[in-house]
Amino acid sequence: MNNLVVVGCQWGDEGKGKLVDYLGDKADIIVRFQGGNNAGHTIVTGDKIFKLSLLPSGILRDNKLSIIGNGVVLDPWALKKEIDSLENLGIQISKKNLMIAENVSLILPFHKELDNLREEIAGGKKIGTTGRGIGPAYEDKVGRRSVRLSDLNNPELLRERLERSLSHYNILMKGYGKSECSVYEVEKKLGEISHFISKFSTCVWQELNQEKNKDKTILFEGAQGSLLDVDFGTYPYVTSSNTLAPAASIGSGVSAKEVKNVLGIVKAYSTRVGEGPFPTELINDQVGNHLSSVGHEKGTVTGRDRRCGWFDAALVKQTCILNGVDGIAITKLDVLDGLKELKICIGYNIKNKFYNYLPSSIDLAKKIEPIYEVFKGWNESTVGVTSLERLPKNAISYIKAIEKFVGCPAYIISTSPDRDDIIEVQSPFER
Ligand code: GDP
Ligand code: IMO
Ligand code: MG
Repeated sequence: MNNLVVVGCQWGDEGKGKLVDYLGDKADIIVRFQGGNNAGHTIVTGDKIFKLSLLPSGILRDNKLSIIGNGVVLDPWALKKEIDSLENLGIQISKKNLMIAENVSLILPFHKELDNLREEIAGGKKIGTTGRGIGPAYEDKVGRRSVRLSDLNNPELLRERLERSLSHYNILMKGYGKSECSVYEVEKKLGEISHFISKFSTCVWQELNQEKNKDKTILFEGAQGSLLDVDFGTYPYVTSSNTLAPAASIGSGVSAKEVKNVLGIVKAYSTRVGEGPFPTELINDQVGNHLSSVGHEKGTVTGRDRRCGWFDAALVKQTCILNGVDGIAITKLDVLDGLKELKICIGYNIKNKFYNYLPSSIDLAKKIEPIYEVFKGWNESTVGVTSLERLPKNAISYIKAIEKFVGCPAYIISTSPDRDDIIEVQSPFER
């Protein structure tokens, strides 16, 4: 089985959607393995813009199988909305090109309520979640009280699962002085969507491990970014799933032995949506404003402004190691066009001590002072450039510096939002 995991190596929104769509041409099966509709993956094909949250980016290409794996938390109503909107744009979606793991955990309306209520109560200490119910849904999964897709076909089991989940939820709601939710209410809502979603239900691990798929190429599409990983990210300002490449195995049912190649996606600078540490952030700064406006740095899901800053090679080196990245794709190089000088963070000074990684204590991270190397910028436009030779000399030096500090070769450079504006130095698939 030839396969490739595509993961974000920063705080998300690195351009995974564009890369998965581009590489999807060479794959047979495209699998989402974690996260939910907190993700927002944008794909631009000529004059069309697609924004996907749950569906794997392979859904846009003909004759590809898209799979939502068990590691995802699935909001059935969000999925229906996404499928309807794609069908309006002429994309056909049926069991032939979409399968959903029967053991996927569902996001139910009360998960969203709880997510938003917690954020509201936390005030200045909020996480800045997307409000999609991701955290509470994963809590229910590890708390062994999730409703899973296959439960929808068994009314008795469904009721039992809902009773268990709601007995937990309603205690919290009572404590917060909020109204409780009844089993009947959720059953009724699920009843309205059950038929639609159940038709995609498949034993995905079996499907992926079938003999006939042994020669197929599988592309695993990561969501969020490595610094939002629940174990290795900037905890507690993280999402509630493991976003690192090894999650591709457990989130789909393909054995870890089979998951071989990893492509790490990085923006040529850094961005982050929501709260939490961001050592190289440029606040009230001209360059920060340039990155934000030229890069159109607004969240796809929530429309919030993304915070912007210099490229942090110390952090990306850390995430490349954790993911087992073979090569990186550097996106949004064109956004740096016209900047006089560029900085790359190579480590931190914290209380007069040098660190080449980000310590896990947030208190330390607050007092962090990035150490930069400075590079010359370029005036030429790199928008739409598709060969290395046509890049300005200083842009090449900048890419080489990233490769050196991060310790990984750049396989791909992206120079515009469009599907075709890519420099492929080396194929990230098995060599
Ligand atoms: P994802 O969540 O990692 O898939 O990334 P998003 O789609 O949320 O955010 C990346 C944004 O940058 C999208 O609007 C893309 O269309 C855009 N984009 C991707 N690659 C490039 C690039 O090379 N240059 C520019 N200017 N925009 C890009
Ligand atoms: P893609 O796949 C950027 C962030 C939220 C918040 C934190 C927790 O498009 O790269 P959650 O709703 O997951 O509980 O929120 O994680 N976040 C993302 N940031 N891109 C994403 O996905 C994100 N998904 C979640 O902003 O800080
Ligand atoms: Mg995104």
